Amino acid sequence: MVRIRSAISELTGYKPGRQPSGSGWIKLNTNEAFEASPAALQAVQSATANDIRLYPSPSSHELKNKLAKHYSMSPDQVVVGNGSDDILNLIVRTCCEMNDKLVTTNPAYSLYPILSSIQGINFEAIPCKDEFALDIDKIIGAHGQVTLITSPNNPAGTAYDPANIRLICESGNNLVVIDEAYAEFADQNALSLLGEFENLCVVRTFSKSYGLAGLRIGYLLGHEEFCAQIQKVKDSYNVNRLAQIAALAALSDQDWAQNMWSTVRKRRIWLTDQLNQIKGLSPYPSQANFVLVDCGEHKASHLYHSLENRQVLVRYLPHVRGAENALRITVGTQNELDTLIDYLKAIISDTM
Ligand SMILES: Cc1ncc(COP(=O)(O)O)c(C=O)c1O
Repeated sequence: MVRIRSAISELTGYKPGRQPSGSGWIKLNTNEAFEASPAALQAVQSATANDIRLYPSPSSHELKNKLAKHYSMSPDQVVVGNGSDDILNLIVRTCCEMNDKLVTTNPAYSLYPILSSIQGINFEAIPCKDEFALDIDKIIGAHGQVTLITSPNNPAGTAYDPANIRLICESGNNLVVIDEAYAEFADQNALSLLGEFENLCVVRTFSKSYGLAGLRIGYLLGHEEFCAQIQKVKDSYNVNRLAQIAALAALSDQDWAQNMWSTVRKRRIWLTDQLNQIKGLSPYPSQANFVLVDCGEHKASHLYHSLENRQVLVRYLPHVRGAENALRITVGTQNELDTLIDYLKAIISDTM
């Protein structure tokens, strides 16, 4: 057997949500958008031979400039990655060495402990207070080399007040990262703090808000000196040409994007109402493109498997604090959600 670092051989790798093969599935388990940006699709379909023959721009030059303009920032304050997972990975590799600690909340995006283990660093997840609120004092007191906050929280859906993020940035802890994978569906975000704090960066993605999860494009907004260090660590050609072309087109079609985000918000309210009307189910308020629902007197595992038997996939998270008996449901198309609600009602009435 080849010798492997013990940090890796002892690690249980990240477990992504199921991507079923075959047709007929209703996929509400991985928070993909219910639609892809049509402008992006058209741009990819119009790609030429050179778009796959030639290497891409190493820095995603055009996309970086367009993102900078979009956010009224300098291009030097933007780094583009192969999905926001790539960006999160780059941050940990750039900032953390032995004996450093990554601090986050519990619950939070489940990739963070895996990134810490791979880097061989310490990891501390500060339990959220009731209703998934941040325990600011404990987060600050944990003194992370990197403090990572998912806002809106995944899987809870809670978006955090920038006033609280400010307190963490002011605390003198090293780097504060706000993972805003779902921010376009939320009422608040940390963008306005970027100009104030050199130790803050915001990570975003085209996966959810532009329907481009399959192409893998994420980005970081932060201080230029920090961005320059991150640039050194990334793969030379970390974002492929088709992804860059698609993201540029998607960003140009803000009408479609704004309309999609507003549909998600409306449908999220509808889904929350419908879930509330089913006896025993208690959905949490969400600011993301998914809703976490506590299954109360019903067993989440039973609901999950019964839905799966009907070819509906949602996310069952028995090991996540606060979500042990809950299901996380992506805001899909209206037809998908109608079917989900009909099935849930039928499954629950069969068991009562
Ligand atoms: C909070 C959070 N951050 C990052 C990601 C990764 O997104 P990407 O597709 O950009 O890698 C996800 C994916 O589900 C997520 O939930």
